[in-house]
Amino acid sequence: MKILITGGAGFIGSNLAKKLMDRKDKVVLIDNFNDYYDPKLKQDRIKKYLKGYDFKLYKGDIRDQKLLERIFKNEKIDKVMHLAAMAGVRYSLKDPFLYEDVNIKGTMNLLEMSAKYKIKNFVFASSSSVYGNNKKMPFSETDSVDTPISPYAATKKCTELIAHVYSHIYGLNVSGLRFFTVYGPWGRPDMALFSFTSNILDGKAIDVYNRGKMSRNFSYIDDIVSGIIAVLDKPAKYEIYNIGGDKEETLMRYIEVLEENLGQKAKKNLLPMQPGDVPSTCADIKKLRKLGWKPATRIEEGIKNFVDWYKEYYKI
Ligand SMILES: NC(=O)c1ccc[n+]([C@@H]2O[C@H](COP(=O)([O-])OP(=O)(O)OC[C@H]3O[C@@H](n4cnc5c(N)ncnc54)[C@H](O)[C@@H]3O)[C@@H](O)[C@H]2O)c1
Repeated sequence: MKILITGGAGFIGSNLAKKLMDRKDKVVLIDNFNDYYDPKLKQDRIKKYLKGYDFKLYKGDIRDQKLLERIFKNEKIDKVMHLAAMAGVRYSLKDPFLYEDVNIKGTMNLLEMSAKYKIKNFVFASSSSVYGNNKKMPFSETDSVDTPISPYAATKKCTELIAHVYSHIYGLNVSGLRFFTVYGPWGRPDMALFSFTSNILDGKAIDVYNRGKMSRNFSYIDDIVSGIIAVLDKPAKYEIYNIGGDKEETLMRYIEVLEENLGQKAKKNLLPMQPGDVPSTCADIKKLRKLGWKPATRIEEGIKNFVDWYKEYYKI
């Protein structure tokens, strides 16, 4: 199979690319290496993490329709995993139009091409943030997601709606994945684990929102990658899946495990809740489990792997 991964230099995209190539799939990556966070990390994922692998990389933008046409025409792609997006909740309040442009229009461009070139399976990244302040736990795919609370979440909900249109009108097989707080080696500097680690090592305080009264289904990258592959391998007319860890953990426990691994205590700035953020997310993952997938990594193991990677990457 030849699989196009958008956002291929990103955290999830690069990890997925590696796993697919390990099982001898061919991959084509597109990424615009934007500077929302340090582009050097994106370049290193390609140059160092994917070193020795054979793949095609397009440095370009999913908003560039001509480029996409060229890729789809030349590459004879079988399946698409669409991960490219503006991904941070907080920054979406600062620049909502960028999120609209990349996340909504960019996704429509890819759906157009995928319908035109009769792609066998189009899988795309949605987010647990579509659940907004949903009170019912755990969050299930059948819960209403009509009340997002950030521009980012609203764009992700939009992609679920637009993708349905392409499934309905053109018979494109479409599956959307609602990711729940993914973490692990080669992770994202704008996410808590990364910034906590660098602050603790620098002796700086960490910002702990909602005074630490938060919980998440933290999801380890290898589990997420195997879940994505399970969905890529099983085209469906239109499905939405939650994809996340199987254990809800408190933010304070997450920090404690990090402190143990760094051998250092964190100074904590206990702060109020941030606009657009939610106090807890907990995934009902029964639906994806039915495809034979099972998350296996506890935070004790996952955070250790992250810290080992971080120290090696930054030569600490
Ligand atoms: N990591 C998580 O916890 C999480 C949670 C929920 C949803 N998601 C979603 O999963 C997807 C992947 O997330 P990630 O954590 O790997 O983020 P990431 O930012 O590391 O990866 C996204 C990649 O897309 C690229 N990109 C952004 N705009 C682009 C454009 N216009 N054209 C081409 N490339 C572009 C970026 O340069 C980046 O390398 C995103 O759609 C994100 O919204 C992630």
